[in-house]
Amino acid sequence: METRLVPYETLTAAQQQQLSALEVHPEQLPWCGDIYCALNSLLVNPSPGIKGFALLADEIPVAFLLLKRPPCLPHWADEHSATLHALQVDHRHQGLGLGKACLQALPIAARLVWPQIKALELSVDSANVTAMGLYLHAGWVDRGEAYKSTTAYERRLALALG
Ligand SMILES: CC(C)(COP(=O)(O)OP(=O)(O)OC[C@H]1O[C@@H](n2cnc3c(N)ncnc32)[C@H](O)[C@@H]1OP(=O)(O)O)[C@@H](O)C(=O)NCCC(=O)NCCS
Repeated sequence: METRLVPYETLTAAQQQQLSALEVHPEQLPWCGDIYCALNSLLVNPSPGIKGFALLADEIPVAFLLLKRPPCLPHWADEHSATLHALQVDHRHQGLGLGKACLQALPIAARLVWPQIKALELSVDSANVTAMGLYLHAGWVDRGEAYKSTTAYERRLALALG
């Protein structure tokens, strides 16, 4: 299976349609939201501070993520970072290495958009064992608490870019 991470705006109309059918397991929705919300935040009020990327596997979209920079950067992130949001692999394709493929491709994809960034950051619910494992195995470092909501303890993870 050949994979590549591509900007949302480069998808064909057919690929955009396929992407809009991406689904995670219902119990995963609190961690990433659904694809409808992710695409809404990208498309309803377009901003240079938010970019969407799809992972294509043999040209079919199987995963999606958002990257943010000012003015969309969250308050807990460093001003020189881009932040990762809404990472989601279609539930029919989870556990096949596609999340890992997204993270491997991310530094180059992010630097193509924002060459000046020094790091990538994200916040992840500490109860999200799969995502924590994914990020830590990919070299991301736990930088402490991002913020505390009433229901979740969010860790702040960072990946320095060389
Ligand atoms: C988290 C998610 C993106 C991982 O994607 P994936 O394609 O299923 O993961 P991969 O197959 O690439 O696995 C990569 C690594 O994740 C970790 N991992 C995967 N499944 C795991 C599990 N059930 N338990 C613990 N770690 C797991 C492992 O470290 C694995 O590496 P390894 O195979 O070398 O051991 C995917 O499960 C998903 O979309 N979850 C719902 C949304 C979500 O939680 N997003 C993150 C928001 S912060």
